[in-house]
Amino acid sequence: MKKNIFLFLLLGYAFLLTACEFTPIEPGSSNGGTQLENTVRENTNDTDSAETNSTDMDSTETNSTDVDASTDTNNVDAEDVLDQVDSSDREPLPTSSDNTSGYHDLLSPIDPAQLGLTPEMITENQGLLPLLEHLISVQYNYSYGEIGYVEEADSIYVLSNKLNHLPADYVPNDLVEPNIPFYFSEALEKKKLRSEAATHMEELFAAANEAGYNLLGASGYRSYATQKGIYENNVANRGLAATDKVSARPGHSEHQTGLALDVTLESLSYRLVDALGEMDEGLWLKENAHQYGFIIRYPKEDTSITGYSYEPWHLRYIGQDVATFIYTHDLTVEELYVYIESLIEENTGL
Ligand code: DAL
Ligand code: ZN
Repeated sequence: MKKNIFLFLLLGYAFLLTACEFTPIEPGSSNGGTQLENTVRENTNDTDSAETNSTDMDSTETNSTDVDASTDTNNVDAEDVLDQVDSSDREPLPTSSDNTSGYHDLLSPIDPAQLGLTPEMITENQGLLPLLEHLISVQYNYSYGEIGYVEEADSIYVLSNKLNHLPADYVPNDLVEPNIPFYFSEALEKKKLRSEAATHMEELFAAANEAGYNLLGASGYRSYATQKGIYENNVANRGLAATDKVSARPGHSEHQTGLALDVTLESLSYRLVDALGEMDEGLWLKENAHQYGFIIRYPKEDTSITGYSYEPWHLRYIGQDVATFIYTHDLTVEELYVYIESLIEENTGL
């Protein structure tokens, strides 16, 4: 399925090797993305999410609640990659119709034309090339009422949301415990992250500490079975509709990817609450997480895009280049992927 892309990349490497004879590449030089202007999400004051007053971390999502993003495909041009895509590279994934009890009801359609993006913003940003390649080789489901089955769960770009389901038996094979403080001391599974995410999370925590903020890890990796337990516990305590706004069904949680970590504070009594978003620590995270490859995955303004309530505590690793693009253009993962998908579709005629 991916052979055309790889053939093209091989050609790109061959070209690069030839070009190097004439144009020396400085050691350590970055291939640099497009210079992007920063936009900042507006601060908000709403603190009334279902999790706001929770003191029982277990009752919510909390307890049992990249390989570098940069690429080795130096000098391979994104526009050329797009041009090379053949429709035979892209076989639709199987989907199943499933919108049991309105699981997708919060979701609104995404119009790629309304996102303030241009094709050049994608194709001229070398840092987005690995994501472009991922989205060419993997097709996600963006249609409501259907669920797609994720193929490349090991990618740092994996899309795990209400419309895309991880394999039940997916367990990342590089889970490690990051060297960061957690609010509990037991060696639990939820302390773990995938190796690359763990390294960058350590850097983020160190930078936050430098800025005077003592973040605490609350919940990282969760197995399918753990998420199932949390979800079912939430349904029993809150009911189905309320649960589906705050807690992913098993197979749909980013925590199963090992790329997500919920963070909390001693001053919040270790709860996961909206108030974090208004505190200095939350504001620092919002403005700085992208530098370490993380995004605030469930912004307050985007609940109809993500399908989940505001979660200023949920950090998802997606690599520095993509995280910076998402931050700069004030996007969600879903919006960026739908936009790139629209570019791919234009080029393949699919
Ligand atoms: N709270 C997020 C959506 C999860 O359960 O993964
Ligand atoms: Zn989370």
